[in-house]
Amino acid sequence: MKIAVIGGDGTGPEVVAEGVKVLAAAAEKVGFEYETKDFDVSGDRYLAAGGDPAKPSIPIISDEEIDELRSFDAIYLGAVGHPDVAPGILEKGLLLRARFELDQYVNLRPVKLYPGVWTPLADKGPQDINFVVVRENTEGLYTGMGGIQYKGTANEVATQIMCNTRGGVERAVRYAFDLCKRRADKHRLTLVAKTNVLTYAHDLWYRTFMEVGEQYPDIETDYNHVDACCMWFVKTPEYYDTIVVCNMFGDIITDLGAMIQGGMGVAAGGNINPTGVSMFEPIGGSAPKYTGQNVINPIAAIAAVAMLLRETGNHTSDAKLVDAGERVEEAIMSVTPKMKSQSAGRMGFSTTEVGDLVAQAVAQAK
Ligand code: IPM
Ligand code: MN
Repeated sequence: MKIAVIGGDGTGPEVVAEGVKVLAAAAEKVGFEYETKDFDVSGDRYLAAGGDPAKPSIPIISDEEIDELRSFDAIYLGAVGHPDVAPGILEKGLLLRARFELDQYVNLRPVKLYPGVWTPLADKGPQDINFVVVRENTEGLYTGMGGIQYKGTANEVATQIMCNTRGGVERAVRYAFDLCKRRADKHRLTLVAKTNVLTYAHDLWYRTFMEVGEQYPDIETDYNHVDACCMWFVKTPEYYDTIVVCNMFGDIITDLGAMIQGGMGVAAGGNINPTGVSMFEPIGGSAPKYTGQNVINPIAAIAAVAMLLRETGNHTSDAKLVDAGERVEEAIMSVTPKMKSQSAGRMGFSTTEVGDLVAQAVAQAK
């Protein structure tokens, strides 16, 4: 297995180093071969190459590098975001570009409360918070369609088009049904949308969801408006099994999801192209103020490795990789109860110590 590693900005390289440490332990334990290649794609490189900090002026990642990424089995990304580069430049130039050009059309975001992890929801525990969000990742409000007319005048008009295609919606919905079928859970797939207001865009979503659902008679087809869904995440998270949602709403509800599973130190995601190269990342940002202090939480980045192994294993029908992924997640769940907190600087351990603990747990498991 060939893995492209992009540490990125801020604390990204630190947490990725811990993920790679655990990957090595898993390979040793389960017995699979892998190689990694580091890609220096970051805000620092952009600035050093003369990139304008205020507006995009040179590529964040080159065309050659994007092409090279296609030859890997998976990409492991730390974080993008640099305090001296205007917001959006690095995110668009790397993260969104990879999602679009590598056609990673699903953003898979498990919301799972690990043992011993504090949740802001009173009276809820790991048995209540365990669902997965399938966020469409290449369409909706993220395509960049739209524009500004009469800029700077009193008559200025700005539009941002929510672009939904039948093909794009259907492939995300189908992925979600297939995933829900594989999960040993409630076999309930909830479409989260806003059909009462987005009467064109989410009418397409609703019809597609119901039509595809007919091919999955064992799965309950359920629907929530997105605003109500935010309410239920807080009140009855145990209701959910699998959710499918458009790009922008998925972005928003998965931050809420990350909070109820213990925060940005814990939440991991995968940008999935089921027939191509997928990219796995901790959901949190580059946390510049903690850079180089060995205090940031690497659990999310290690959970991203677990996903990388499981998804790549499923994709290539490699049982060893799937097993390795499960083992890494088990190891995480044996370490989280020992941590004082999931917040940076309050874990009771340093970044590297948490990585060591998980790597040891992988090595010592039966
Ligand atoms: C995420 C992030 C990105 C998104 C930003 C950085 C462009 O918030 O991965 O959720 O909106 O998708
Ligand atoms: Mn987001």
